[in-house]
Order: sequence, then structure tokens, then C-alpha cells
Amino acid sequence: MLSGSVSGTTITSRPWSRAPGTRPPTPEASDFGFRRLVEGDLLLLAEWLHRPHVMAWWRPYPSLEAVREHYLPRIRGESVVTPYLAQLQDEPVGYIQSYVAADVGGDWWPDVRDRGVWGIDQFLADGQRLGQGLGTRMVRAFVELLLADSRVTQVQVDPAVHNLRAIRCYEKVGFRAVGPVTTPDGPSLLMVLRARRT
Ligand SMILES: CC(C)(COP(=O)(O)OP(=O)(O)OC[C@H]1O[C@@H](n2cnc3c(N)ncnc32)[C@H](O)[C@@H]1OP(=O)(O)O)[C@@H](O)C(=O)NCCC(=O)NCCS
Repeated sequence: MLSGSVSGTTITSRPWSRAPGTRPPTPEASDFGFRRLVEGDLLLLAEWLHRPHVMAWWRPYPSLEAVREHYLPRIRGESVVTPYLAQLQDEPVGYIQSYVAADVGGDWWPDVRDRGVWGIDQFLADGQRLGQGLGTRMVRAFVELLLADSRVTQVQVDPAVHNLRAIRCYEKVGFRAVGPVTTPDGPSLLMVLRARRT
């Protein structure tokens, strides 16, 4: 679980007001909120998972039933992975999940013993909005919330080695490449961001 301030709530919302004809302001990290995924979100999630820009980099779940089978245990807290809906001004804009790396098991992170190491995975829902800075702000906002939890000493991401857009996004958030790793999802680049606490 993330800190209590995250679970089941939208963290923050900044009302946007603008004169007619002016461009909306660029959303800041603080405009994002994250709430726990619920069963009622699974149809939406299944639709997102079938979008080409997500399918290119995410494990396929060919049917709604397969999505339910995979994500319901996470929703019910029966998995080490905790799923969230990312919202921008209450609009669902993406999916993000977190996990304690040492707890995942299988062939995931066999060398990680430190339970302060948390991992994240994410995608934006709208393929038309990629490459505009939205993902950087979403990930930054989520990482800030994770690091607000004193148990979290390090956050990691593991983009596929060819996912240059994701790698660049994570660099902008402050993640630094550690090196290549082989995960059950294939060759990946391990990137970490360490908490700076005084
Ligand atoms: C990964 C993701 C969340 C990033 O969000 P985003 O809003 O697209 O990313 P941003 O616009 O904040 O940053 C992307 C950066 O990559 C750059 N970029 C885009 N395509 C690139 C490419 N082919 N090679 C190198 N850099 C690239 C952009 O120019 C931008 O960098 P810049 O600001 O220095 O110019 C989003 O693209 C996404 O959901 N992708 C599909 C699913 C996915 O890949 N999930 C991640 C799994 S690890």
C-alpha cells in the first residue's frame, strides 16, 4: 500500500479557469491524482490495454475475462502489485501500479532484498497525447507520493530496452540507468531514483 493519503482518494485538484480562446495551462505534476483501481474500472482498463500504443509495450490480455483474472487479485489486495487509476482534473488519463520489488518473486528482482525498493509501471491512455510531457508529470507526481512514504528508499522502473520514449520520460523525472536486466518480460533497462532525505 502507498501512504494513506493516496489510497482511494484523488490527491489534489487545481481548478482551471481561463479566458475564452486562451490555451489551457500545461498541467503540473500537482494536478494529478491517483485512486485505487476498482472492479468497475476493468472494462475501461481492458479497452485501454487494447490500444496499439499500449499493446506495443504492455503484456497482452486478449479478453475482458483475461483482464479480470489478472487485475482482480490486485484490486482485492491479493497481489503484491497495487493498481491505480491516474486522473488529471478528475479525468482518467492513465494506469499506474506499484510493488515492493523484493516481494514479487518468480524471476522478478531475485537480487533485491531491501523492502525499501519499490517498482512502478505505467501507461497513458490516450495515444494522441504521447510525447507532450504528460507522462513525465504523471510519473513525477506518483513518485513524489511514493517518496513521501518513509518506507520507500528507492523507486525503480524497467522499460524495455527499445522503449526510448519511456526511457527519456523516466530520465526527465530523475531516474538514472543502472544497466540492462533480463526480466520475464524480456530485456529491460533498470532505472532507479533514490530518495534524498536529510
Ligand atoms: C511511457 C509514457 C508514459 C511516457 O509519457 P509521455 O507523455 O509520452 O512522455 P513525455 O512526453 O513526458 O516524455 C517523452 C520524451 O521522450 C522523447 N521521445 C519520444 N519518442 C522518442 C524516441 N523514439 N526516441 C527518443 N526519445 C523519444 C520525447 O521527445 C520526450 O523527451 P523531451 O521532452 O526531452 O523531448 C507514454 O509514452 C506511454 O504511455 N507509452 C505507452 C506505454 C508505455 O510505453 N509504457 C511504459 C512501459 S515501461
